[in-house]
Amino acid sequence: MEQKTAIWTGTAFAIALAIAASALVLYGSDNAGTRTALELTARWSFLLFWLAYAGNAVAILFGPRYLAGHARDFGLAFAAAHLVHIGLIVWLAHILGRAVLPPGLFWFFMAGLFWTYLLAGLSFGGAKALGPVLWRWIRLMGMNYILVAFGRDFVLPVLYPKPAQVNLGHFAFYAPFMVLAIAAPLLVLAAHARRPAAP
Ligand code: HEM
Repeated sequence: MEQKTAIWTGTAFAIALAIAASALVLYGSDNAGTRTALELTARWSFLLFWLAYAGNAVAILFGPRYLAGHARDFGLAFAAAHLVHIGLIVWLAHILGRAVLPPGLFWFFMAGLFWTYLLAGLSFGGAKALGPVLWRWIRLMGMNYILVAFGRDFVLPVLYPKPAQVNLGHFAFYAPFMVLAIAAPLLVLAAHARRPAAP
């Protein structure tokens, strides 16, 4: 791994760890505190994932050159940060003494982890061996699956809040992430349309 990529990845992981530790100290390491830590670290993971998904598109459409060409860096940073999410899940399962999600959701999110670490792993040379066409398809499927997994958690609580969640705080905690999740594929499509057609 390039030194710069390693620094980004390590920093993303360290920030996720700091967020989780602060949440557990402030809100407690019980069920409720751990769920808060999961919610906060998931948002940090999502921002990194979002830059991996849409960073190039934003650079093409709006011009910030520093976002261009860093999809792999952001993707690996996301994969590293999300290790903290996994650690919190293991901790939550340990303190609850049971599965943390019902089976359907469990497998839905496990598939998200599968894609996350498959793409991260393949980016170390395997992608080259697969060839550009196959790699592009695998990346397309994986990145969009992960986007849908995030989208499920950010969109549904805005569209279908529980009665206790109808308040500004809940809305502010979800709506910006919902907007980002919906905007990401639209930005990518818009950037594709902007690209000059190949001769
Ligand atoms: C790539 C895979 C995954 C993604 C994208 C993801 C995404 C998220 C997001 C966005 C949240 C915050 C939800 C909120 O604020 O309401 C969250 C929380 C959570 N996640 Fe994950 N997650 C993944 C994998 C998993 C897996 C595999 C499990 C369990 C086996 C899991 C269990 C949880 C739990 C228990 C919470 C706390 C929910 C609560 O507020 O009660 N996640 N995840």
